[in-house]
Amino acid sequence: MESKPAFNQIQEMPAAVLRVEDLHKYYELGETRVHALRGVSLGIERGEFVAIMGASGSGKSTFMNILGCLDRASAGRYFLEGIDVSQHDKKALALIRNQKIGFVFQGFNLLARTTALENTELPTLYTKIDNLERKKRASEALALVGLADRAQHYPSQMSGGQQQRVAIARALVNRPSILLADEPTGNLDSRTSVEILQILQDLNDKGLTIVLVTHEHDIAEFAKRVLVFRDGKIRKDDPVRDRPRAAEVLKALPTLED
Ligand SMILES: Nc1ncnc2c1ncn2[C@@H]1O[C@H](COP(=O)(O)OP(=O)(O)OP(=O)(O)O)[C@@H](O)[C@H]1O
Ligand SMILES: [Mg+2]
Repeated sequence: MESKPAFNQIQEMPAAVLRVEDLHKYYELGETRVHALRGVSLGIERGEFVAIMGASGSGKSTFMNILGCLDRASAGRYFLEGIDVSQHDKKALALIRNQKIGFVFQGFNLLARTTALENTELPTLYTKIDNLERKKRASEALALVGLADRAQHYPSQMSGGQQQRVAIARALVNRPSILLADEPTGNLDSRTSVEILQILQDLNDKGLTIVLVTHEHDIAEFAKRVLVFRDGKIRKDDPVRDRPRAAEVLKALPTLED
């Protein structure tokens, strides 16, 4: 057997933070079985900003929930920062999710009787950090989304855009390297949507890997890469050329009087 020089044995590993291979998801509902993902394979590198589009029912949320370790695929493999998490049980998934992933749910999902600061703090309750550090990190996360001055407000005392920003702060509080957002602008007017996209573009510039689901082309264009799902499969995967900067677009949009 030939001996090879050591440097030949070192494989150049691509910096994929997320890699899925032939993912399938079945939902069993009594007699019926929904085949929601039908063989999805994909790699997402560090620093990417990916938008996922596709008709209602095409499998976007199903896919996001698996990426976010909120659910498991029925078949196929999922590598999260090189770790095969396909066989992880619920507890192991929750642990890895809490360390690596921030998740923004559609419709904010904030606790009503809880201030912006406390809402933001929530994911830190499952970590070992102490109370003071908790408050510090939550304040920092709120500042990142421009809400330092709203820390003591309750959700009902904030606009939709502000509530969504609290949801983003909450997703960032454990300092994840990946942010997953399922329709983060679904309930927002167009100016507020672009404001959210500005925050996401800024975070992405700082190195955060982002995957977002949207129904709107105008929103997807702010990402660097757009995937289109159809019937549980990826049908298109294209880079975005000449993507707009949300900060620039905002300058051209009329401001709402209030
Ligand atoms: N918990 C569930 N139990 C059974 N079937 C489900 C479940 N969640 C989703 N489905 C089915 O799986 C398919 C994909 O649903 P999914 O929620 O991933 O679609 P989506 O692309 O996110 O749609 P939308 O744009 O409406 O949010 C649909 O046919 C849906 O009815
Ligand atoms: Mg969905």
